[in-house]
Amino acid sequence: MCGIVGYTGPRRAVDIVVEGLRRLEYRGYDSAGIAVVDGGKIAVEKKAGKLANLTSVLADPGSALGSTDASTAIGHTRWATHGGPTDRNAHPHLSADGSVSVIHNGIIENFAVLRAELEDRGVEFRSDTDTETAAHLIAEAYWSLDGQNYGHTSTDETTGRLAEAMRIVCRRLEGAFTLLAVHRDVPGVVVGARRNSPMVAGRGQGENFLASDVSAFIEYTRDAVELGQDQVAEVTADGIVVTDFAGGAAEVRDYHVDWDVSAAEKGGYDYFMLKEIAEQPQAIADTLRGRLTEHNEIALDEVRLTDQDLRDIDKIFIIGCGTSYNAGLVGKYAIEHWTRIPVEVELASEFRYRDPVLDRSTLVIAISQSGETMDTIMALRHAKEQKARVLAVCNTNGSTIPRESDGVLYTHAGPEIAVASTKAFVTQIIAVYLVGLHLAQIRGIKYSDEVAAIVDQLKATPDAVAEVLQTMEPVRKLARDLSGSQQVLFLGRHVGFPVALEGALKLKELAYMHAEGFAAGELKHGPISLIDDGVPVVITVPSPRGRSLLHDKIVSNIQEVRARGARTIVIAEEGDTAVEPYADHLIRVPRTTTLLAPLTTVVPLQVLACEIAAARGNDVDQPRNLAKSVTVE
Ligand code: F6R
Repeated sequence: MCGIVGYTGPRRAVDIVVEGLRRLEYRGYDSAGIAVVDGGKIAVEKKAGKLANLTSVLADPGSALGSTDASTAIGHTRWATHGGPTDRNAHPHLSADGSVSVIHNGIIENFAVLRAELEDRGVEFRSDTDTETAAHLIAEAYWSLDGQNYGHTSTDETTGRLAEAMRIVCRRLEGAFTLLAVHRDVPGVVVGARRNSPMVAGRGQGENFLASDVSAFIEYTRDAVELGQDQVAEVTADGIVVTDFAGGAAEVRDYHVDWDVSAAEKGGYDYFMLKEIAEQPQAIADTLRGRLTEHNEIALDEVRLTDQDLRDIDKIFIIGCGTSYNAGLVGKYAIEHWTRIPVEVELASEFRYRDPVLDRSTLVIAISQSGETMDTIMALRHAKEQKARVLAVCNTNGSTIPRESDGVLYTHAGPEIAVASTKAFVTQIIAVYLVGLHLAQIRGIKYSDEVAAIVDQLKATPDAVAEVLQTMEPVRKLARDLSGSQQVLFLGRHVGFPVALEGALKLKELAYMHAEGFAAGELKHGPISLIDDGVPVVITVPSPRGRSLLHDKIVSNIQEVRARGARTIVIAEEGDTAVEPYADHLIRVPRTTTLLAPLTTVVPLQVLACEIAAARGNDVDQPRNLAKSVTVE
């Protein structure tokens, strides 16, 4: 939520920062702005709406930043929390004397008290944001250091002081924040601070970066520095100095990013979402790579939990939000079946408020693509306080959730830029399945033959998903046809139920249509009254092989809705002839076992939502009101 980027080095900072904002725009697009330190002054341009609004202002010859060659700048793309999405509330914010400019991701919870205190001292606010308080406070702290020994980490007169001002202010702030600040008197210095919100530094050659995530600077360097909780980073062209909020030296972790700039580009697709849907076979293969042995065993050496830790577990909670929660629901069916350990799946935003029963023998699996979702962070902290062991399933190296967990299993989906999650979903299912199979293996449970067979089928999944992707043309056509519908309902049983929830979530967020996912058996307990003539109902059908009772029940459900006028869109495996008489539209997927079916059946639902949104003229990659990384509770 909100993207921040800071640069200092030999290049034209405006260009670098605008490019960084373009890559971070998925984090929020209510407004965008940039501040440049130039000739003893700070110049700011900011504009409500998408980044394109800001870039057209910058292109105007009259722009304050049009002709600057300055080499230090900060930029922000906003998802509004405090204060509406207007020009006035857009970041950066300036201190009253114009000496300091600040951008911010997060919420300063005690801002009202701080603002009142500043107003009592005669400071006039120019926005409704919590962020502006930080700009005034940093300016005051900076001046208060005049003539003092402020350099905890630097002996250079030109540096150290802004970092110390930042530390003084951070010690007073409550809540979640990543702050970047520049000062007109110290060109060539960007100072960043983080608590509960993401920030990474990029180490370049004679230039350095601060950003919400590495995609902002991946074009220039793949050498990144993971910054910890309550740390302040002072960045100059020559180096990055990191301290804690008290000014003590802080430990940081350097790492190399293993994907390059092309992974963060559209690569010829109309939307990132379509590209990411197409990348699913590769993402699954990458997530499986190195984790399955030739003897069909699971090798999860990277998970920091010992075999004994895992043997001691007698209960599992899976927590996550949105799509990650839906992936967790799928995981429950598999883990319980393979391990006989009870699994509860809980929305992370609800978890800590209901006092769940947790102890040392509880494993909490926290699923998150971004690793920065605040609801999930707070839930995992609660679990740790109750002594549960926490295992993260995450797609973002070095983000908060894996750093705060006892162990981590990374999904290797690559960067997911479209706001709607697709390849993260399938790789999360794969990762949770690997955890389930690993648990089954080390606990030596009775389903060992079935487990070995599942491993073979997992290896075949990338090809199965690739096959589904080859047959999406009828789905595109259907999408155009359905784009005028008022509502679409989704039905499934067993693992098809979370797939129905996921299909409905995709359609809601992208097409802004009423969409609901139901357990097909629940329909007759109320929702069936939504069915009217022509209402589209999408049903995913489990394999008729092996679990014929489940299959037969859903075939009855298809008949029930069709008898009441529904237009049925049936997703069923090759060779399932029983559904044919009741399907107005039949979408085929390759044969697979019930537990692996979500990996193939979700693909047409993703394509359907994407294409309906496009047909309705919506912004597919950046749907209204949303942001990719939800860093507020
Ligand atoms: C839906 C979507 C969201 C996220 C949710 C959790 O398409 O993307 O529902 O799944 O905000 O995000 P992460 O996985 O980053 O914790």
